Amino acid sequence: MVGNSDLPHVSTRAYSEVFQDLSPRRVDIYNLACPHRIPLDYLSASLALLETNIMSLLEPSNDTGKELKLLHYIYGQPNLDEIRGQPQKVIDLIHEFEKDYHFINVGPEKGKVVTKLIDELKPKTMIELGCYVGYSAILFGEAVRRNGGERYLSLELNPEFAAIANMLIELAGLRDFVRIIVGRSDLSLHKLLTSGEVKKVELLFIDHYKPAYTTDLKLCEHFGAIVPGSVLAADNVLYPGNPPYLEYVRSTVEQKREAAKSGPSQSYNTTGMAERTVESFVGKDDVPTFDFVGNPNLVYQSQLCQPEGLQDAIEVTKCVGVQA
Ligand SMILES: C[S@@+](CC[C@H](N)C(=O)[O-])C[C@H]1O[C@@H](n2cnc3c(N)ncnc32)[C@H](O)[C@@H]1O
Repeated sequence: MVGNSDLPHVSTRAYSEVFQDLSPRRVDIYNLACPHRIPLDYLSASLALLETNIMSLLEPSNDTGKELKLLHYIYGQPNLDEIRGQPQKVIDLIHEFEKDYHFINVGPEKGKVVTKLIDELKPKTMIELGCYVGYSAILFGEAVRRNGGERYLSLELNPEFAAIANMLIELAGLRDFVRIIVGRSDLSLHKLLTSGEVKKVELLFIDHYKPAYTTDLKLCEHFGAIVPGSVLAADNVLYPGNPPYLEYVRSTVEQKREAAKSGPSQSYNTTGMAERTVESFVGKDDVPTFDFVGNPNLVYQSQLCQPEGLQDAIEVTKCVGVQA
């Protein structure tokens, strides 16, 4: 039994007033708790805390606790030698582990949208923005290799995630094919494009900091890496959502030329994004390193690919020409 002196903060609001704030689910729980006469304010505060904790479990975080647990879980398998060199077995183990922990991987359904693209386009080089623990790098890296490709470049900000991903990529037998480049995607892309290491984008999987989708695309456009035939596959465009990116890739050349007249912007366009999305990974005060307007003359054909029963989707965008 909780005594009043143990209560964290008991507001002076009348219980009836507090009661109005409670969702039906909370009222049900309160009814269950009533026989024990737990004060409603205390119960309400506890439930709010619980909700906050559950939400934080679902949100991207830079804490590598569960990601390290995944590494131990996979490397602790008694049949490790049978898993070595088998990308699908590593993917299956990640799925198994995900029954207990929420991970921010692209997942099997949206993954199929991208592997289908790889089968069609057969890129020599595929680039991804956002590696996390290497799920997509293993899934897509294997598909690029199977289709005769040469390399898979994965750009990841967090060195701890990159280290975990490298261990899983090694186990999957893709160490010589997938290269993780640690750092901010804009700086890494800038280096790849200006050094000539990457001359054009064949297939780009965009799955990192949501506000950076558009600025990183404009960076690629600026350096002439987006050419007719280039394809972009952007994850999470519906959930958590990325209205500025969708607007950009679905705009006509005329609309983009008009927008470009206001010049480069030194901040991210976060219109329509939830605060927690904007604050994920880098913090809300982060600004893009470069402020390129991109190339508004590129003609895009863009299509939403939403697997059945899924809340989220991949936006697949193809550059089909350059308008004079
Ligand atoms: C949604 S996860 C990527 C999931 C991964 N593509 C998969 O499907 O397995 C996003 C990742 O992007 C990384 N990230 C966030 N902002 C970044 C940036 N500016 N540059 C590079 N990586 C970034 C995060 O650290 C995180 O690991």
